[in-house]
Amino acid sequence: MATQSSAPPAQSISPLAPIGVSAAIEAASNPGFQAKVKIFDEFALNDRVGIVSGGNRGLGLEMALALCEAGARAIYCFDLPAEPSEEWNQTSAYVKKLGNGSRLEYAQIDVRDQQALWDKAKEIGDREGRMDVCIAAAGILKTHTDCLTYPAQQFKDVLDVNTNGVLFTAQAAGQQMRRFGNGGSIILIASMSGSITNRDHAWVSYNSSKSAVLQMARSMACELGPERIRVNSLSPGHIYTSMTAAYLDTQPHLLDKWSNLNPLGRIGRPDELRGVIAWLASDASTFCTGSDILVSGGHHAW
Ligand SMILES: NC(=O)c1ccc[n+]([C@@H]2O[C@H](COP(=O)([O-])OP(=O)(O)OC[C@H]3O[C@@H](n4cnc5c(N)ncnc54)[C@H](O)[C@@H]3O)[C@@H](O)[C@H]2O)c1
Repeated sequence: MATQSSAPPAQSISPLAPIGVSAAIEAASNPGFQAKVKIFDEFALNDRVGIVSGGNRGLGLEMALALCEAGARAIYCFDLPAEPSEEWNQTSAYVKKLGNGSRLEYAQIDVRDQQALWDKAKEIGDREGRMDVCIAAAGILKTHTDCLTYPAQQFKDVLDVNTNGVLFTAQAAGQQMRRFGNGGSIILIASMSGSITNRDHAWVSYNSSKSAVLQMARSMACELGPERIRVNSLSPGHIYTSMTAAYLDTQPHLLDKWSNLNPLGRIGRPDELRGVIAWLASDASTFCTGSDILVSGGHHAW
């Protein structure tokens, strides 16, 4: 006897519904239905507001610009200097020229200062009336230090920024996401060094700090899922920025060495994180939380 299959009741619906195969099926039975490319609309961040720590330069600034290009209303960059860098000013001016109404803002905040972060995020929430995206990218890397005699204070200094600072940044944005009740996307910048150890580099504090971020993302994702606040970590491989320049510019042989540690045979560019950031920040990734996304040129695969 033939049984009629029936789909379970819908638990959620895409804001762009009908979309994908559902749109195709509707088009088949409705001659008036207008076929429309929607894949890029899923990545749109129109009117959204976000925070990027470490946004004065490097990967943070690159990611902030990607959010602006995707249509965000305002992205607030937090970093240490009282005034933003020339690079930041040029990027902010470029955002204005995009003509999509997006703006880049800057605030001097030390991510080790939990209360300052919470207060600043609340101020932004008061001003903008929403909070949608957070990228916790501020981080530091120290010089090689023997793990068996690693000084307590130096170890603490790295964890204070790379682990505690990431938590405080995520808290600040998450509090505002909870306040406005629209969910949100929190992206914690970890590193492949949270999952692998960089060969011949004595970076026990950095590697430990990044492993903690991976578990922080999973743990926060589980607590905040019911509020539709998604938390993921992004783990880049070697990318040329001021952080890695401290090694690559002073030890030129490292470029070949690092390049040959991944199957693509080169290190990455900051702009190669634009796609994954747009995906994680937007409605294109609404079923992704508690994940670590490795973008390493395959370094971790060897
Ligand atoms: N470049 C890479 O190859 C690579 C690879 C994996 C992960 N990462 C991670 O990406 C993130 C960005 O690194 P990057 O390569 O752009 O380095 P970067 O040094 O260019 O940028 C880091 C930024 O963080 C800021 N910062 C440091 N301490 C801070 C504090 N206490 N409060 C506020 N801001 C602070 C710095 O001023 C700087 O602007 C870091 O978390 C880093 O660990 C980088």
